[in-house]
Amino acid sequence: MPKAFVTAATGSQGSALCRLLLSKPSASPSSGAAEPWTVVSTTRNTSSPAAIALAELGVGLTQAEWDNTPALEAAIQGCTHLFLNLMPNLKTMESELPLAEKILDIAGRSGVKHIIYSSAYTGNDDKKDKPKDKATNGDDGDDDDNSSPIAKLMNALHDGKYAIEKLVLSYAHAQNTTTTTTTSTSSIQTATVLRPGFFQLNFLLPRVSMMYPALPSTRVWTTALRADTPIPMVDVRDIARLAALVFDQPARFNGKVLPVWGELLIPGQIMAELGAAVAELEKEQGSTGTKGSRGAEFKAEFLTDEQVAERKPTDLFANVQLLMRGMGRAAAEVHPPPSYGVEMTSFREFLAAERELVKKTYLP
Ligand SMILES: NC(=O)c1ccc[n+]([C@@H]2O[C@H](COP(=O)([O-])OP(=O)(O)OC[C@H]3O[C@@H](n4cnc5c(N)ncnc54)[C@H](OP(=O)(O)O)[C@@H]3O)[C@@H](O)[C@H]2O)c1
Repeated sequence: MPKAFVTAATGSQGSALCRLLLSKPSASPSSGAAEPWTVVSTTRNTSSPAAIALAELGVGLTQAEWDNTPALEAAIQGCTHLFLNLMPNLKTMESELPLAEKILDIAGRSGVKHIIYSSAYTGNDDKKDKPKDKATNGDDGDDDDNSSPIAKLMNALHDGKYAIEKLVLSYAHAQNTTTTTTTSTSSIQTATVLRPGFFQLNFLLPRVSMMYPALPSTRVWTTALRADTPIPMVDVRDIARLAALVFDQPARFNGKVLPVWGELLIPGQIMAELGAAVAELEKEQGSTGTKGSRGAEFKAEFLTDEQVAERKPTDLFANVQLLMRGMGRAAAEVHPPPSYGVEMTSFREFLAAERELVKKTYLP
């Protein structure tokens, strides 16, 4: 029977995958018969609303921090599949790499056969193996000052994910060659990397309060992006759908790196979609005043180069947006990525599906 360990199960990607796996049996590779999933994970707080909701669905949760190795070993033991999705350590500004190494080692000793790593699309992977290009410094998040906490976190976000991708793919390559590698004793047989674009839910509660706290009240998205930066937008449920497909057909996706997004939108288009969704809700509520719907007020404003330079040492999200400039350029070159039959949700469809959350975020 298939049994998945889903890291960060209470998070946005993890909870979408847990829900999907538990609602849809796996097709057995040998018989083709439908086999129900068992899904397990750890959480730091089994009493959180997200953990309680997952437990009610049937996810087996152990209360543990990721640094609790015995708890991870016990939870992963007997699993056949691993969905790896981690966060940099915000206390130490350390990358996800040490944690990924530990979890992959445990998985390989515990019978796990198929792994997926959910990384992030940065579009800079080729550059990461080359010396830093000074010409692009300041436009894509590279920072020569590696000592500040922000620079450390950016490196943890940027370089750590790429290092994990390489590590994860080494498990796929170990199966594809006769070369003896450090992973050859591992039970892992197939490995796939997903590179999601920018989450559509970043514009809704609770995330918007952290990422763009002024947006719900001002309806102005002040950003270090350029007006023409294309953003590859993704619904986390589509990441889950693709992950479930990879779990069902691991050999098909072994060793592959799959970019995941549906459409490219520039900041002005994102604000226009958001404005239209809010205007529709205002109309339903009868809250449009004599001046018409406030939904039309949504707009993006762009920081000048001087303002970006001022914010760079202290503003994490300005740095992330600089990184996203490069991501957007690279995404435009490979757009649209293959969907493998998983229909990607547009931002408009996402906002319609999340209308209650849109209301809570923008019309409290
Ligand atoms: N936002 C975007 O647009 C975007 C795009 C591409 C990739 N990403 C990447 O997505 C990842 C985040 O995934 P997500 O958004 O699905 O997660 P999320 O919703 O931010 O949730 C974070 C998860 O991590 C768990 N967690 C955090 N620290 C932990 C610790 N010390 N021990 C155990 N668990 C811990 C939390 O579990 P508990 O609280 O239950 O313990 C929670 O499940 C990041 O690596 C980010 O770089 C984000």
